[in-house]
Amino acid sequence: MHKYQISKMRNIVAGNWKSNKSINEAREWMSVMGEAMDSMPNDVRVIIAPPAPYLSELAGSDRNGILIAAQQVSAFSDGAYTGEFTANMLVSCGVDFALVGHSERRADFNESDEIVAKKVRRCIDAGLGVMLCCGENLASRDEGSQETVIKEQLISALEGVSSEEMTGVVVAYEPIWAIGTGRTASADQAAEMHRFIRHYLADRFDADTASKTSILYGGSCKPSNADELFTCSDVDGGLIGGASLDTADFQLIIKSDSSY
Ligand code: PGA
Repeated sequence: MHKYQISKMRNIVAGNWKSNKSINEAREWMSVMGEAMDSMPNDVRVIIAPPAPYLSELAGSDRNGILIAAQQVSAFSDGAYTGEFTANMLVSCGVDFALVGHSERRADFNESDEIVAKKVRRCIDAGLGVMLCCGENLASRDEGSQETVIKEQLISALEGVSSEEMTGVVVAYEPIWAIGTGRTASADQAAEMHRFIRHYLADRFDADTASKTSILYGGSCKPSNADELFTCSDVDGGLIGGASLDTADFQLIIKSDSSY
């Protein structure tokens, strides 16, 4: 059983540093956050996704319950794939999760739905937790096709995944127009999309699987809007980019996610 299953909880705040921080800055962040974890709510699971070169060291450090995620993972198995790192390697380094399908990977590194689905399968088979990102772009939002886009992404990414395997999968809804733009989805927009995703999971799997799956919001989530977003019943927490770089902001966001 994947260790994530043992202590599955729906409230999650995950940070994604993207390509930011030196190793010394990463160590400093972990040391500050590690200490702060003693005063963080115990009903919120905290995850951080540092750049790949730091994963092994941070996973082996004194992290006081903070889970470690890779920002991406190879679609291939171990073998002759220069430059790739595989789900098995991440597990062997003590990494808990991998982000899969982040819009920046889809847009800047040509990751198609097909590649995303392969990565999901690699992670599940390796026992690595999956943080599956989905989100519509501004054009889709403007034409009102956001639900269709999300559904298509989820159908493809979760093809062949069983409800039992969903215990290792977290979904992150990240409208592309809100990522790094300072423009956040309104609480109503987030609530509507999260409800849609929960219903989709109930149809695709079953009600129990849907209710146990964490659905995180991502896109310019910060201390000033986290409370409002996390009070929406189907918003279980956040995937935080810019605001995760700062430990004080990140702590405030974690506190906002408690007991909703
Ligand atoms: P942001 O990034 O919080 O900086 O908008 C979110 C993400 O891309 O995960």
